[in-house]
Amino acid sequence: MAAGSDAIAGITHVTKFSPDDFTYLNTGTKVVMKAGAADLIETELERLGCRKVMVITGPSASRSAAFGEISAALGHRLVSVVSDIPAHTPEDFVMRSADEARSRGIDGLLAFGGGSASDCAKAIAIVLAEGGSISEHSSSFTPPDDFRPKELHQPKLPIIAVPTTASAAEVTPGLGVRGADGRKMLFWDVKLCPRLIVLDPEANLEVPSRVMAETGMNALAHCVEGLYSRLRNPISEAIAHQGLKMLASGLPAMVAEPDNTNHRARVLAGAHLSGMVISNARVGIHHAICHCLGAHAGLGHGESNSIMLPYAMAFNGDAAAGEFVEMAVSLGAERTTAINNPTDIAVERVRALQRVIGVPSRLRDTKIERRALPHVAAQTLLDRGVFFNPRRVETAEPILDILEAAW
Ligand SMILES: [Fe+2]
Repeated sequence: MAAGSDAIAGITHVTKFSPDDFTYLNTGTKVVMKAGAADLIETELERLGCRKVMVITGPSASRSAAFGEISAALGHRLVSVVSDIPAHTPEDFVMRSADEARSRGIDGLLAFGGGSASDCAKAIAIVLAEGGSISEHSSSFTPPDDFRPKELHQPKLPIIAVPTTASAAEVTPGLGVRGADGRKMLFWDVKLCPRLIVLDPEANLEVPSRVMAETGMNALAHCVEGLYSRLRNPISEAIAHQGLKMLASGLPAMVAEPDNTNHRARVLAGAHLSGMVISNARVGIHHAICHCLGAHAGLGHGESNSIMLPYAMAFNGDAAAGEFVEMAVSLGAERTTAINNPTDIAVERVRALQRVIGVPSRLRDTKIERRALPHVAAQTLLDRGVFFNPRRVETAEPILDILEAAW
């Protein structure tokens, strides 16, 4: 079975990357970079025929001026607002919100916020369309190499997304929901991709640059992992290189001048590209660890991405040495330097970025306790990222080594 086709058809096994045999998934989302999201949303809702919209947003996003403008533009169409999403989109919260959406006769969803807002909107759309509980529709993974995507067939309500972070969660057909047992359940359906994504650099000025920096490291990680994933294609590779370039230049510029809309736009565009990467390539051990640091230790996804990325890259150095040369170049290294020692050079570029933009770089500086690391390592082994990672992982031991190094 060719690697590329597995992503689309929902087949179980991926062999390895093959540049002459692949499938590229185009999600059909309209993406607009423009100051002033409210007008665009109004026009699009009219075009889609949406009359009863549920808005899903986070506590801080809901207090922004941009959110006020969007709410005003929605007018009578706005029939429900969910603004208290807990981090990592818990299962019971999704089910309560879906009940509310059903009782109000919702015919459209608008996600305004970070990754949790988008994931929650997609999860509500799944429950409304497929019925039952959200957990019934989750993909499953049994280590080391049995991954079974769950195919979702029903048409989904239209979603419009205005991202306020660089997580790129709104871009992809995938999403994560934290189950009652703490495990991250993963879902995949291209029909969940938004009809419209508005990237609004002016609205983004309200978002603290620290939030954009940490979530920007998540976006950077999508590009890095996409470049050496066992499931990727030449188109996702091209997008990943452009994403790396925009983020590696845009993030330091944004941190230096947080009030500059050009820098904000560059980060938003780079983040969007990173989402396009993981709509086709799959993330690996780095994201598997970050999912578990989030679900089992409560770390933010941007925070854990900021810390773990260089360690996960170093772990994959030998398995993906060839891919690291071009990656290092896209991260800003000279080709003549990168060619001799690509992994170290790429890792050093990421460490330098960590320092320049001031994101966390050690687990010991977060709220996680060291004694929790073995549990996080054991849980990481159950995440499907392990399956797509270039270096094979069969036990929790090497994962614990990565975590200890990051401590
Ligand atoms: Fe991510």
